Order: sequence, then structure tokens, then C-alpha cells
Amino acid sequence: MPTDKKHLNLVIIGHIDHGKSTMMGAMLIKTGAVSDREARELEKLAKEYDRESWSYAYVFDRLKEERQRGITIDLAFRKFETNTKYFTIIDAPGHADFVKNMITGASQADAAILVVSGKKGEMEVGVAANGQTREHAYLAQTLGVKQLVVAVNKADAYDYSEARYNEVKEAVSDLLKNIGFPVKKIPFVPVSGIKAENLTEKTDKLSWYDGPTLIDAIDAFELPPKPTGKALRVPIQDAYSIKGTGVVPVGRVETGVLKKNDKIIIMPTGFEGEIRSIEMHHEEQPSAEPGDNIGFSIRGITMEDVGRGDVMGHPANPPTVITPKGNWTGQIIVIWHPTAIAQGYTPVVHAHTAQVAAKFIELNKKLDQKTGAVIEDNPKFLKKNEAAIVKLQPIKKLCIEKYEDFPELGRFAVRDMSRTSCVGIVKDLETGEE
Ligand code: GTP
Ligand code: MG
Repeated sequence: MPTDKKHLNLVIIGHIDHGKSTMMGAMLIKTGAVSDREARELEKLAKEYDRESWSYAYVFDRLKEERQRGITIDLAFRKFETNTKYFTIIDAPGHADFVKNMITGASQADAAILVVSGKKGEMEVGVAANGQTREHAYLAQTLGVKQLVVAVNKADAYDYSEARYNEVKEAVSDLLKNIGFPVKKIPFVPVSGIKAENLTEKTDKLSWYDGPTLIDAIDAFELPPKPTGKALRVPIQDAYSIKGTGVVPVGRVETGVLKKNDKIIIMPTGFEGEIRSIEMHHEEQPSAEPGDNIGFSIRGITMEDVGRGDVMGHPANPPTVITPKGNWTGQIIVIWHPTAIAQGYTPVVHAHTAQVAAKFIELNKKLDQKTGAVIEDNPKFLKKNEAAIVKLQPIKKLCIEKYEDFPELGRFAVRDMSRTSCVGIVKDLETGEE
């Protein structure tokens, strides 16, 4: 990859079957990021599975189960270039059962394309109270994805109609405005993924549309300032044991700078060691900066010392750990719950790449979602669409930070019955360490 182009992580989100994988697959084939040969092979494979219309989606959907079922399950990463930038595309699943994978993807992203099918009925299902257009948009906002482009997809299936495009734009704008996105700045680009229209080239069929193509819209994303001056934080996404190399943890640098030969500490395991090498896109690098997705090797490390959800830092300023005796104060929004949340509720909390059960030990305040004003002290219950200040206690050690110190590590999502019930940020914390 050329180094003169700036790098951005771009997550593709939206309701199931709205065409995320197909659209991005088509984009990668159009720009040559996927070779003709690979494209032809995928076409053949899709025929074999009797899913011809899915051949573009197969660029991202690589698991056998994904190809057979025609859905995305796990995150898939691919590189891709525009005029001024290069992107790591993170294709997220829309299926409600795999939202946790979407959360992991969004927690690594700088920007997002929200794919909304304009096909009759499909947009409506996505923006409905339990639709994933709504859920993903909430999560993206809470996880710090600040820039968004909306692709109003399947234009071929809504007859390239300007009226339908406007209808979708209005409904999705309302939703995004409520969540707190700067709607005026967000481009709504009509496209057809399956026909590769308005992705890289304009089409006569959308003659009424005078905005950018999808590729031009994402090329215009602004680069977030890099928090290089802050302490090092690298949430670990996974660790692999590779023959000949040893244990290779992978993760994204959120803040600070990591250099070869640096002394590091991994929390909560407390493992200390020294960086032997850093790799990005299979190439060795002398250092890594915020936004870089890296793999690295450390002298003397074993699989016991590192895993998904751990965070690496420098020993002089190690990642903060909350023990089961400590707690954190979260400002949350309840986006879904079958009944109501009460004290003692112990769901799974996702923060950066970590997943830990945590108990709601106090419900402190109910807030007005739009103004932040206190509506009620010590509420007994919290229901859907209510905002609140609560105290949470992890059942095992968890690395998390105050949002104002490290926004990247100060956000969390609460999951229950395979759905996201709350999203929030860390206002304060007590580590619980003696
Ligand atoms: P998940 O990853 O499972 O959430 O789905 P997805 O959003 O990635 O959708 P995918 O690309 O797998 O496409 C779902 C279905 O929509 C397939 O049958 C596609 O052929 C169809 N589809 C995708 N894009 C278009 C489009 O532009 N027009 C039409 N008419 N159909 C499309
Ligand atoms: Mg998909």
C-alpha cells in the first residue's frame, strides 16, 4: 500500500439483506481491488451454491456457512483505495444474532457507510423500533463513529425513483438526527450495488441526482486527528499461535505510539515484555500509530498472557483495570429491553474488544435524552428510550477508561438476549484495587 495516502477504517453497517456485502464487493471489483480472476472464481462459486445474485457478496462472505446461507456472520476486512485515501473496509453482519461482531467492527472504525435498501418495505423494517438500521446507527454513534455516508441502495428495485429516494432520506434523516448525527453534513447517495451503479461512475438512470458517487462521497471523509500524544492503548482483538513465530496478538492502536523494542504491559493479565516486531498488512513496520491495525510479536509471551479484550500499554502509564470490587459510572441510553432494567441486572457489557458480565449496582438518575437534565433521582426502573446515570460492577477484571481521558476506550454497549439493550460512555470509575 502506498504510504502517501491517508488511511481510514470504514465499517459497512445496516439491516440484514440491505445489500452491504454486495455493494462493497461490487465496489472492490470495479476499482480493481479485487482482480477479474478472483471475481470470475466467485461467480462460479456462487453458481455452485445456487446463489448467483450473491457473487459480489462473496468478496466479503468467505465462510462456507455465510456462502450457503447468504448472510454475513463475521467481520471481513479488505483493503481498497480512492483518489486520496486508502481504506480498510470492515464488512459487518446485519443479522440480529451477530450484532456483537458489528460492535467490534464499529469500535475499530473511523467512519461508516450506512446501507439502507430503498426497496419497498425494506427501509421500513430497518428503521422500525427493532430494526438494525436503527440499532446500528445508535451503536455507531456511541462507539465514536463520527462520519457517515448513507447509501440508499437497490435503486434498481425502486425504479431509480427520486420520490422514493426522498422518502428514505427523510425517514433516515429523522432517525439520525434523534441519535445526534450532524445530518446536514451527511451525503445520501442513491446506488444499486448489484448493478454497480453510482458506485464509481454516475448513471443516466439517476439523472435527477446531482450529488457525488459513493466512491467520491467516501473519498471526502475527513481524517480524524491522531491522538499520538496520549498514552499508548491497544485493545487486543485476538491472539494467534503461529508456528515458528510464536504468539502474535493483533489489535488496533487507539492512542499513543508503539515502537519496536518498546517495553509494554498487557492488562489485566499484567504481562510485561518487549516488542520484537510490528506488522501491518503483512509488512514489518518500525512503529504504529492510532488507527493502525497491527500484529506484533513479544519476547517470552504465551497464549495465557494475552487474549481478546485485554489492552496493551506502556508500563509507565498502564491501561486502567476495574476489579470486581470496583465500579464505573456510565451514562447510558436504553435502546431496547423486553421489560425494564432494575438494580441487580447483570447483562454482558462490550467495551472496545472486551466482553464481561457486569451488574447494575445503582440506578442513580434518569435523564432527559435530548437535554441531559435530571428527570428523576434513584429511579426504580429504566425502560426503552430512557437515558440514565448508572453504576456498573464487572464480575471479572475489565480494562476500561474514562471517556474524557480515552474516548476510544470509554464507550460500552450492554447486550441481553442477543440484542443490544443499552449503549453508553464511562463518566467516572473506581478501580477497586487495594
Ligand atoms: P448481511 O450481511 O447478511 O446483513 O446482508 P447484506 O446487507 O450484506 O446483503 P447482501 O449483500 O448479502 O445481499 C442480500 C440480498 O440482496 C441478495 O439477494 C442480493 O442479491 C440482494 N441485493 C443486494 N444488492 C442489491 C441491489 O442493488 N439491488 C437488488 N435488486 N438486490 C440487491
Ligand atoms: Mg453481508
